[in-house]
Amino acid sequence: MSNNSLDNKQKSWSGRFSEPVAELVKKYTASVSFDKRLAEFDIQGSLAHAHMLGQQGIISKNDVAAIEKGLAEILAEIQAGTFEWLLDLEDVHLNIEKRLTDKIGDAGKRLHTGRSRNDQVATDVRLWLRATADDVLVGIKNLQLSILDLAEQHADTIMPGFTHLQVAQPVTFGHHLMAYFEMLKRDAARFVDCRKRINYLPLGAAALAGTSYPIDRDMVAKTLDFDGVCENSLDAVSDRDFAIEFSAASAILMTHLSRFSEELILWSSPRFAFIDIADRFCTGSSIMPQKKNPDVPELVRGKTGRVNGHLVALLTLMKGQPLAYNKDNQEDKEPLFDTADTVLVTLAIYADMLRGIAVNKTNMRQAALEGFATATDLADYLVKKGMPFRDAHEVVALAVKHGVQLGCDLADLPLSDLQKFSIMINDDVYQVLTLEGSVASRNHIGGTAPTQVKLAIARARKLLS
Ligand code: ARG
Repeated sequence: MSNNSLDNKQKSWSGRFSEPVAELVKKYTASVSFDKRLAEFDIQGSLAHAHMLGQQGIISKNDVAAIEKGLAEILAEIQAGTFEWLLDLEDVHLNIEKRLTDKIGDAGKRLHTGRSRNDQVATDVRLWLRATADDVLVGIKNLQLSILDLAEQHADTIMPGFTHLQVAQPVTFGHHLMAYFEMLKRDAARFVDCRKRINYLPLGAAALAGTSYPIDRDMVAKTLDFDGVCENSLDAVSDRDFAIEFSAASAILMTHLSRFSEELILWSSPRFAFIDIADRFCTGSSIMPQKKNPDVPELVRGKTGRVNGHLVALLTLMKGQPLAYNKDNQEDKEPLFDTADTVLVTLAIYADMLRGIAVNKTNMRQAALEGFATATDLADYLVKKGMPFRDAHEVVALAVKHGVQLGCDLADLPLSDLQKFSIMINDDVYQVLTLEGSVASRNHIGGTAPTQVKLAIARARKLLS
């Protein structure tokens, strides 16, 4: 970015100043280095505003035509990378406006009639965020499809289900994966919902109080595809709820992916050896030749901290601001941009990574056999034979203790041993003590039975279609 100094007269607000802004202050207050990414949306907003000014007879049709032509050229320059961004012109808005005026003269100076950078920037950010929310929704769907494919392959793959990270009960791997599908379903709903409140037009609020020109805000809203206008001018220029909501939805989404990552890291460690993450998502160690590190899930876990931090930054940014616009608001962009960038790339890489996961069914199954995972099934068996649940719980606890002493699973104890704990136990008990029997018996909506997992996947595919 070029930094050549403009003389004070060339700046849009310098008439009342008697000395130039200090160099360091210029750098401190400028936002063009990061808000230039709003350029396309700034131009979209300006075009809609100019058309409305023309329609209402506030500026001439000739002016509108000149503005249209000038902005089209500027957009082309920006897209070609030939546009010269000047730090002296502070932000994206003043850079584009100055270039327009250089190109078309007075018509360019008329564009800002009935508008302020305060309602302009709020409009730009909403337009950008609306498009970004749509991209996030595409990313979530893509990841959901990737989860469904993996879950489908493993609808009846048995693994230990954990509570407190201790083996609890056998579950199917497909069922486990579908838990993340549900989380992402809620995430998508949050972005859809947040998009609704993004989609209102601030333009027309001008600096804070509205404008004395006979503007038509509904027309601008319609042109820009907003669902309506922000109904209070003070709120319109100062509200950043939509940015906070987007960040909150992003933080929750990243938190889900962080939990998932923690599991991938554990499962891929040789201690578990449940899965293998494709080499292209891992790196080696520069000193230990045997290492294969799950860098991608680790970074997802790490980047979640950064996205959560941005949410806190935005909340803190807003908490002390009196109405209406304050320069503080300029600080909304970097956290928001970084949040969006992080979420979008994470979703894309995650979908791809899941497609590269190889599952070691033998190890998963072995682990499920190792922690008396079917103890609850034995209790349920006794209950079905008439024993009160609390008594059954105690009987099984004693049987487990016996198994621990002998170093064997419940399914490996001979019937005569099991019958020492309750005479209600018969040889049909072994059906419920197997892993397959255990998972198949949880056959209701939300349960881990392979039939239910397949039904859940079918419902999910229908939802996404
Ligand atoms: N760059 C500013 C921002 O991002 C634009 C609005 C400036 N308005 C003002 N009154 N200084 O918020």
